[in-house]
Amino acid sequence: MLISLLRSALLLPRRLLPGVSGYIAAEKKKVVDKMQSGGTSSKNNRRAELPTIGLGEEVIKDLETLKAKDVDWQGKCSGTVYIAGSESEGHFELINKAYSMFSHTNPLHQDVFKSVANMEAEVVAMTAALLGSKEKSSGGQICGNMTSGGTESILLAVKTSRDYMRSKKGITKPEMIIAESAHSAYDKAAAYFNIKVRRVPVNKEFLADVKGFKRCINGNTIMMVGSAPGFPHGLIDPIEELGELASRYDICLHVDLCLGGFVLPFARKLGYPIPPFDFSVKGVTSISSDVHKYGLAPKGTSVVLYRNHEIRKHQFVAVTEWTGGLYISPTIAGSRPGGLIAGAWAAMMSLGLNGYLDSTSRIMEVSKKIQRGIEEIPGLFVIGKPDMTVVAFGSDVVDIFEVNDIMSSKGWHLNALQRPNSLHICVTLQHTTVYNEFLKDLQDSVNTVKANPGPISGGMAPIYGAAGKMPDRGTVRELLVEFMDSSC
Ligand SMILES: Cc1ncc(COP(=O)(O)O)c(C=O)c1O
Repeated sequence: MLISLLRSALLLPRRLLPGVSGYIAAEKKKVVDKMQSGGTSSKNNRRAELPTIGLGEEVIKDLETLKAKDVDWQGKCSGTVYIAGSESEGHFELINKAYSMFSHTNPLHQDVFKSVANMEAEVVAMTAALLGSKEKSSGGQICGNMTSGGTESILLAVKTSRDYMRSKKGITKPEMIIAESAHSAYDKAAAYFNIKVRRVPVNKEFLADVKGFKRCINGNTIMMVGSAPGFPHGLIDPIEELGELASRYDICLHVDLCLGGFVLPFARKLGYPIPPFDFSVKGVTSISSDVHKYGLAPKGTSVVLYRNHEIRKHQFVAVTEWTGGLYISPTIAGSRPGGLIAGAWAAMMSLGLNGYLDSTSRIMEVSKKIQRGIEEIPGLFVIGKPDMTVVAFGSDVVDIFEVNDIMSSKGWHLNALQRPNSLHICVTLQHTTVYNEFLKDLQDSVNTVKANPGPISGGMAPIYGAAGKMPDRGTVRELLVEFMDSSC
């Protein structure tokens, strides 16, 4: 039934006859409700007003009840939680303590909270040092800021590149070139900052196609993006070649190290063959690196870095005509959570080089085991040659989204990808104790789909399958927007 729902929703005419629109809206709603998987009932129970009498300390009990309703995420989610163990022990407990010690602080008030201002500078410097700032070839001027996450770091790098290129080359109709595998945050940045995106299909190895990029360069090109690695398949784009191209055409090159920034430097030290990816590569002008992923810091922490201050200056907006006074803040937010800065600083300082080497060696080993295990499951293939800790896989034999539905019924939360239809697992410390269970469940799921082809009742396979194939991307976009619009 679901597939017919989706088909009917996706095949709806874009220009509507009066009277038909109500029917179509109802069909779309059915699909959106399905995507929210029972969200409507929980929404109906939502509190819509303040309690008349405050709950006081009792509120903690309510929080515990709410928390207990979350799914069992320990060891079961792709990416999502990168720190080992549960949130009330070990490293988690430490960073939570650091957060709570500084949760009242705000680096906007640098004069009051010198502590967090210093910690931010140190997190930035320590991250930069991992990404080539100490190399002579970096130019010795790497600078940056902390942001709320990978997306904000990317938004800032794109806005900064746009304004830098406008001042340097007078580009007023900016364009950026990205691979099909580059994160959706670049589309967001393009929409926010009025930039045309040229998305180039990946090459046979699923990497950014340098020749394809070159063909897209014109007088309006402000920047290109390389990922190390990209989110979907965990593969490192040819950063050196992209750097050469960027230098030749004097345009910016952003390297997306949101996933790789706190893995690749350590993996290389551990002897894994890691191609060049950082500021030691000529032509790289900015980098994003997420502390809240493999940096094992609290959620809401990332670092954006620039080759030099001349570029970074274009990140800032200085306000001089406001009756509120002279104003400047470094990133998109005004007030910022000093507690998160302290949490990130505590994570990095408490782990140190040896801590990150240890965690990297554990997740790299498990990733290789998972990769080999998947390769051994008849009917599955691994996409590309995973460089790090993301393993993507597809199938020519079974519907991989049906496999995902069975995996979901066993409690796993994997990422569904398109072009080609596939799944990935982003391996974290959470998986180091359960990878055997993962492989066994995956093998069983493939066997189940082989034995019972066809959509799983209540599953998402038809939605993913159909949405990926539908030529009418406008309706797919509308469904996504409706899904989001009805969520909160
Ligand atoms: C390569 C890459 N870039 C950017 C992002 C966006 O990061 P965030 O979700 O922290 O905004 C992600 C998230 O997974 C990513 O994998």
